[in-house]
Amino acid sequence: MRILTTTGFLALAVVQVIVVAQFNVAQSAPFYLVLKSRNSSLNGAYLSPCHEGAAENALCPTKEPLTDLTYNQFYYNSSVPDAQYPYGTLGWNLQIGEGSNAIHVPQPMIFQYNDASNVAVPLIFFGNPTSVEFGPDNRMTIFSFRDDTKPLSLGNTNYSAHLSRWYVCDTIPSWYLYQTLAGAMGNAKPQNPSCQKVEVYRKWA
Ligand SMILES: *[C@@H]1O[C@H](CO)[C@@H](O)[C@H](O)[C@H]1NC(C)=O
Ligand SMILES: *[C@@H]1O[C@H](CO)[C@@H](O)[C@H](O)[C@H]1NC(C)=O
Ligand SMILES: *[C@@H]1O[C@H](CO)[C@@H](O)[C@H](O)[C@H]1NC(C)=O
Repeated sequence: MRILTTTGFLALAVVQVIVVAQFNVAQSAPFYLVLKSRNSSLNGAYLSPCHEGAAENALCPTKEPLTDLTYNQFYYNSSVPDAQYPYGTLGWNLQIGEGSNAIHVPQPMIFQYNDASNVAVPLIFFGNPTSVEFGPDNRMTIFSFRDDTKPLSLGNTNYSAHLSRWYVCDTIPSWYLYQTLAGAMGNAKPQNPSCQKVEVYRKWA
């Protein structure tokens, strides 16, 4: 699932234009993302970047043995890597070109939101990263500091939750219909009937 060199260079130009502020960010060792699910055909599956467009990948579960290990490795950028639940960006390196001419362009995981759905699609692309965290058990979650299912009050700074609202669903983020990782917005069931509940874990490479 390599992208064409021409579109790759276009992507590179985009990267050079978008200057992302980075301060004291530590990049983790590489890891794989592995699913846990009650459904045995998803349980233990790796999440592998799957082509959605130029320099754009979703995360597709695969039970095939990983042939290209580097291609399936992610990393974590955090400015507070030592916290019990650090927060930061899930990253991946887009490879452009082959062999000794290959260059690697860092890309974050971003959510593609759909105004008409409560299902967002995590993409590896350019744009505003969606902050994620990894708990002591290596489970990937999203931190919530406010519970809007209850009456809100600015003075209540006591709330914290580590949310795992991950699903695997049939999605079409751009041109292709794949089974991909998805994130449910809010605590309602995903409206997409294909969604199956999963948990996402990091497994060090
Ligand atoms: C398990 O997952 C596979 C792949 O998504 C799906 O085809 C199958 O229907 C699922 N089984 C159950 C019992 O949900
Ligand atoms: C991760 O951090 C490294 C080192 O600061 C940086 O070069 C890279 O661009 C970052 N990756 C992402 C996806 O932000
Ligand atoms: C915050 O949480 C602590 C410990 O659970 C509790 O004792 C305290 O009353 C809470 N404060 C507020 C403002 O809810």
